[in-house]
Amino acid sequence: MIKIKDNIYWVGVKDWELKHFHGEELSTHRGSTYNSYLIKDKKTALVDTVWTPFQREFIDHLEKNIGLENIDLVVVNHTEQDHSGSLPYLMEKIPNAPIYCSKNGAMMIKKHYHSDWNLNIVKTGDSFDLGDNKLVFVEMPMLHWPDSMATYVAGANVLLSNDAFGQHYASPYMFNDQVDQCELFQEAIKYYANILTPFSKLVKAKIQEITSLNLPIDMIAPSHGIIWRDNPMQIVEKYDQWASGYNEGSVIVLYDSMWGATRKMALAIARGITNKGLGVKTLSMGKNDKSDLVTEIFKSKGVVLGSSTINNGVLGDVAAMLDIIKGLKFKGKIGAAFGSYGWSGESVKIIETKLKEAGIEIMAEGIKAQYNPTTEEIKACEVFGEAFAEKV
Ligand code: FEO
Repeated sequence: MIKIKDNIYWVGVKDWELKHFHGEELSTHRGSTYNSYLIKDKKTALVDTVWTPFQREFIDHLEKNIGLENIDLVVVNHTEQDHSGSLPYLMEKIPNAPIYCSKNGAMMIKKHYHSDWNLNIVKTGDSFDLGDNKLVFVEMPMLHWPDSMATYVAGANVLLSNDAFGQHYASPYMFNDQVDQCELFQEAIKYYANILTPFSKLVKAKIQEITSLNLPIDMIAPSHGIIWRDNPMQIVEKYDQWASGYNEGSVIVLYDSMWGATRKMALAIARGITNKGLGVKTLSMGKNDKSDLVTEIFKSKGVVLGSSTINNGVLGDVAAMLDIIKGLKFKGKIGAAFGSYGWSGESVKIIETKLKEAGIEIMAEGIKAQYNPTTEEIKACEVFGEAFAEKV
């Protein structure tokens, strides 16, 4: 148990070995943590649990340190298994403990665990008196699941925000003022870009709702990564920016290439963008981690994307990336397409269609080259890059 504030203890787990999350979907280069919190007052509340593989160490630790029979209630802010996965094992041991969750949370607990636990549904503003502290529940639907909620500990003035404001970041330390700020914000923006981007409108509305309450917030303690205690509102301000069609004014040129022709085009387009004084990154979709590419796209204003044509379509990693981009519903970005081909040459049209479907405005008709681009065609790519840069 690590005391984070009077009456509040971190009882979570650090997962140093996690390399992917959501199955194999999201990379987690710095591991992650599953943060569970214990509020010890006249009554004792456990807020969230940890992922199933860690259930034994989690429950044994609680048993040794406080005795499971002393847990008066369990709050489930979110039923995704990284936070609710230890519930069945816990509830075997304290079957009568009441669980507090949102209405959707109750439905999802039943769908996940087919259990008969004592579920108590709470809405925004409902509260539970622990003694000196009071738990106040705040529903956060679709941030990022329909069941998500946060729990505010009035008295200690700590917001247990669940996934919001989190990072997949295992650190020897607990608090934001103790860690490398570059690492911290890299993981925080990666988390936002990959998980919360589609819900940005809701993020803005929820931030406004919470800030208008003028609650004193001394600490924001999410369910992953480090806890924000030094100027905790800095991450709320960042979320407000990230939820507002965020970009850093740069361009990303993404490509995949069978024999190097599309790559030559990518480098020439990037040269053109650089000629106009803009920052540009040129990255292969085949060679780079897709979650990191999403973070780079999130930071970019312009997305120029290219593929060789294969079997009347695009290369596999390009197809996957286009689907990911579509699902994330980025706002305020502009795009263009390019690619080399042998005989049919559909890739550019496919990319343009997919980027449009993703809400990315196409700024110019795409550029193609047959087989290996000539010196003139490479020059045309450079001019294409310059023209694109002027529209960013
Ligand atoms: Fe960290 Fe949505 O679970």
